[in-house]
Amino acid sequence: MIDRNTIERIIDAAKVEEVVSDFVALRRRGINLIGLCPFHDEKTPSFIVSPAKNIWKCFGCGKGGNPVHFIMEHEQLTYPEALKWLARKYNIEVKEREMSDEEKQRESMRESLFVINQYAHKYFVDNLHESEEGRAIGLNYFRHRGINDETIRKFGLGYSLEKRDALARKAAAEGYNPALVDKTGLCFTTEDGRQLDRFWGRVMFPVHTVSGKVVAFGGRLLQSNPKAGKYINSPESEIYHKSDHLYGIYFAKQAIIQKDCCIMVEGYLDVISLHQAGIKNVVASSGTSLTIEQIRLVHRFTNNMLLLYDGDKAGIKASLRGIDMLLREGLNIKVALLPDGEDPDSYAQSHSTEEVEQFLKENQVDFITFKTSLLLDEVGNDPIRRASLIGDVIKSISVIPNDILRSEYTRKCSEMLQAKEQVLVSEIAKLRRRDAEEKLNKQTKATSDEKEAEVTDEQQNRAFEENNTIYNKERAIVQFILRNGEKQLLVPEDSSSGTPSFTESVISNIHYSIDGDGIKLSHPLYKKIFEEAAEHAENPNFVAERHFLAHPDEEVSRLTAELCNDRYILSKSFSEEDTEERNETAILFEQATRLVISYKQSLVDELLKETMRKLKEPATMQDAELANEVMQNYKYLKETQQALNNLLKHYGFGECALNI
Ligand code: CTP
Ligand code: MN
Repeated sequence: MIDRNTIERIIDAAKVEEVVSDFVALRRRGINLIGLCPFHDEKTPSFIVSPAKNIWKCFGCGKGGNPVHFIMEHEQLTYPEALKWLARKYNIEVKEREMSDEEKQRESMRESLFVINQYAHKYFVDNLHESEEGRAIGLNYFRHRGINDETIRKFGLGYSLEKRDALARKAAAEGYNPALVDKTGLCFTTEDGRQLDRFWGRVMFPVHTVSGKVVAFGGRLLQSNPKAGKYINSPESEIYHKSDHLYGIYFAKQAIIQKDCCIMVEGYLDVISLHQAGIKNVVASSGTSLTIEQIRLVHRFTNNMLLLYDGDKAGIKASLRGIDMLLREGLNIKVALLPDGEDPDSYAQSHSTEEVEQFLKENQVDFITFKTSLLLDEVGNDPIRRASLIGDVIKSISVIPNDILRSEYTRKCSEMLQAKEQVLVSEIAKLRRRDAEEKLNKQTKATSDEKEAEVTDEQQNRAFEENNTIYNKERAIVQFILRNGEKQLLVPEDSSSGTPSFTESVISNIHYSIDGDGIKLSHPLYKKIFEEAAEHAENPNFVAERHFLAHPDEEVSRLTAELCNDRYILSKSFSEEDTEERNETAILFEQATRLVISYKQSLVDELLKETMRKLKEPATMQDAELANEVMQNYKYLKETQQALNNLLKHYGFGECALNI
C-alpha cells in the first residue's frame, strides 16, 4: 500500500491540465479548459477541466474527479496503479506502507508467479521466431492461418518445443524456483520427481490481464490428434482464476470504449483475425459460457455487447443459456450470426474491414428478438411447446433492469408471439415479484450468516441508490464537512441556559450534535469519513477536502472528488450567494444546524413509522404490557419530533427551510 504522504505529494504534483492534455486536446474557456470527453462519444465538448481546483468533470456522461481518477478511468487502472503511473510521470518516489508478513508473502508469491509467466512468455516468443523448430512448425502454422508478423508480435504468440521438459530445464538452469514454476501451471512434477512441461509441441497464446500482464497461456496442437485435446490451457492458480478473465481484453479495451460496444466471440483465433482485419473491440470467452465476473469486466467499459456466433445451430442453442445473466446485469445484448460454415476467424480472413463492419451492422438483432424467432422456428404449431416458449422468453425479459427497455421488448414479443401484451405484462410482473422475494430471502439469510457480509454491503449500496432519505441526509452532512469541515462557525449565545456565544470548527460542532446524541451514521462509507474527520477536529493543519481527496481508500477519494466537484465548476454554492453583511461563521452555523436537525428528523420519522407498524401487529395488540411500552415509545418519539421543530423555531430558521 502506498503511504498517505506519498499520495498527497502525488496529488499535489499532478496538475490536472497536464495529465488530461496527454490524452485530450483542451482549449481555454474563461478560467477553465474545455475539450471532447474521452469517455463517451460526443461532437460538442462538455468535458471541463478546472486548473484552479485541480479537477475535471464531463457534463455529458457525468464522470469526474481529480487527476488520479482521470488516469484510473482512461487507462483502466486501479487506484494504486494510477497513483504509481502519476508518480512516474512526476518523478516522485513511491513509499509503500509496511505490509503484514502474511500480506508480504502473498504479494511476493503473486509477483514471482507473474515474473515466471513473463519469463516463459518471452521464451515461447523466442522459440517461435528464433529456433529452427519454432520457425519451421509454429511460425509456418500461423502464416498458413493468415496471421501476419505484426499481429503475431502484437498478441505475443509463441511456440513450445516438442521436448517434454524444455521449459522446466531452462527455467531451473536460469535459477527459477521449480516449486514456483509448478505453481504457475506451466510445469508439473511427477510422482517420481521429474518436472515436465504442460505445453509442448504447441503454438502458444498468452492470456493478458486488463492491465497487460501475462496471467495464463493457451496452447494449440498443430495437427489434429484424437488422443490430445486441440487446446490446453493453464490450470487455475494463485494468480489465475479463469472466470475473471477474457481473452483479448487488454488489446480491446480502448476500442471498446471508443465504439461503446464489445464484440464477444468464442476463440483465440477469432479475436486475433478480427483484430488484424481492423475490428479491435473484440474479446473471447474461450469456449466456455460467460461468468458474472467476465460480464462485469466488460461492463466497466461499455453497456453494449454484440455476441458473434458461427452459423451452426448447436453452438447457438448452447450459448443461449448464459444470456439471461447478461440481461440481468443491465447490458444491451445484440446477436449476429455468421453465414453457415463460417466462424469469425474465417469470415475476417476472407473479407475486408468494411465488409465485416457492414455485415455486423446489417445482421445484428437484439437478443430478445433473436431468441424469440429462433425458438419460434422450432416449435411450429404445437400449442404446449408454444406455451413453454412464451414462458422462456418472458423469463428473459423479466430480468432486464431498465423499465423502458423491458416494456419495449414486451411489446415486440407480443407481436412476434401473437400473444396479448397485457397478459405478458402481468406474467412478467409476477416473475419480477418472485425474483425480488427470492433475492430478499437470500439476503436475509446472508445477513444472519456472518460469512456473507458482502451481500449486506451490496444491500446497503442498493438502499442508498434507491434514494434512501437517511442516506441522502448523511451524504449532505458528509458533503458539508468535506467542503467546510475545518472552518470556524459561531454558535450564538443561548439566553435560556445562559451560555455565551463561542466559535468552534464545523466538524466539532456537527460531531458533537450527532455523536453526543448517541447517533452513528448508517452508511458505511459516510460513517468512515465522518468519524475520521472527527478525529482531526482539533488539528489546526487539517483541511478536510485535501485530507480526503488524498485518501488511501479509493472509495473515499472518489466520493470526495464527487461531492466537492460541482461547486467549483457549476454555479456558486449557496453560501457564496448569501447576503454579504452576514458573517460567514454565522451562516455556517445555520447551515450545519439545519443539516443536523433535518437528519435527526428523518431518523425520528423512520422510528415513528416502525413504531406504528409494531403497534398494529397482532402480537402487540394482544399483549397489554407490550402495547403500553410501544405506546410510551411512540409518545416519546412524538415529543422528540416536536422538540426538533421547536429547536428550528428557536434559532429562527423556520420549518420551510428544512428541505435540503
Ligand atoms: N477451447 C479450449 N479447449 C478445447 C477447445 C476449445 O480451451 N479443447 C477454447 C479455445 O479458447 C478456443 C475456443 O475454445 O479458441 C473455441 O474453440 P473452437 O471453436 O474449437 O476452436 P477455434 O477457436 O475455432 O480454433 P481453431 O480455429 O484454431 O480450430
Ligand atoms: Mn476456428
